[in-house]
Amino acid sequence: MSKRTVQVVCAISSPDGIFGEGDGLPWKFGRPNEDFKRFKDLTGETTKGSVIMGRATWESLPLNFRPLKGRQNIVVTRNLDYYEEGAEVCYSLDEALERAESPTISIIGGRELVKEALERHLIDVAHITVVEKTLPSTDATVYFPQLLSSEFLFHLASISVEQHTQALEDGAFVNILFKRYERRDT
Ligand SMILES: NC(=O)c1ccc[n+]([C@@H]2O[C@H](COP(=O)([O-])OP(=O)(O)OC[C@H]3O[C@@H](n4cnc5c(N)ncnc54)[C@H](OP(=O)(O)O)[C@@H]3O)[C@@H](O)[C@H]2O)c1
Repeated sequence: MSKRTVQVVCAISSPDGIFGEGDGLPWKFGRPNEDFKRFKDLTGETTKGSVIMGRATWESLPLNFRPLKGRQNIVVTRNLDYYEEGAEVCYSLDEALERAESPTISIIGGRELVKEALERHLIDVAHITVVEKTLPSTDATVYFPQLLSSEFLFHLASISVEQHTQALEDGAFVNILFKRYERRDT
């Protein structure tokens, strides 16, 4: 049997570790352009990759974007009656990982599912996009500062960091880091 890679693909702001705002991403400028392209490549839009996401993340995808095109979409919920056109519904992360058909399996959010996968050391590779911008905080802000912490990611080794700059609508620029971590051999 060919080797499978289980990866996390997600984004977070620095320095505050903001992961979401209500049901959506925290940056108003949308998913940074470079990151959007990278997300499609990493999750296998043209290679039939498997993506696993929590129910809240699935529901946060715009209707014209779901299911994520070209990929096996697996949605995890505890609701045994849940049904969504285009989604394969599973009732635990373990079941979702078993159901995944592609050798490349991407866990794409949200906070609950990514946290479980990292805490249980189920991840071989983590692709974490760090958006270097201080964002406003509201009652609906979802924080996940552990994702920026080497203690939390300790079973993974930092492999590479790529830096990009994105122009915002107001003419300002934001720095974006693409960080890649891989499972340590030990
Ligand atoms: N920055 C990023 O890259 C990124 C990516 C995706 C999402 N987000 C953000 O993350 C936030 C949402 O996070 P979240 O933690 O609320 O959402 P989530 O992980 O997408 O969804 C949580 C739901 O998934 C189900 N679930 C999670 N773990 C489960 C398990 N082990 N077994 C069975 N079901 C399970 C449950 O669904 P039921 O309630 O139906 O039982 C749970 O309520 C939003 O702000 C979103 O914008 C950020």
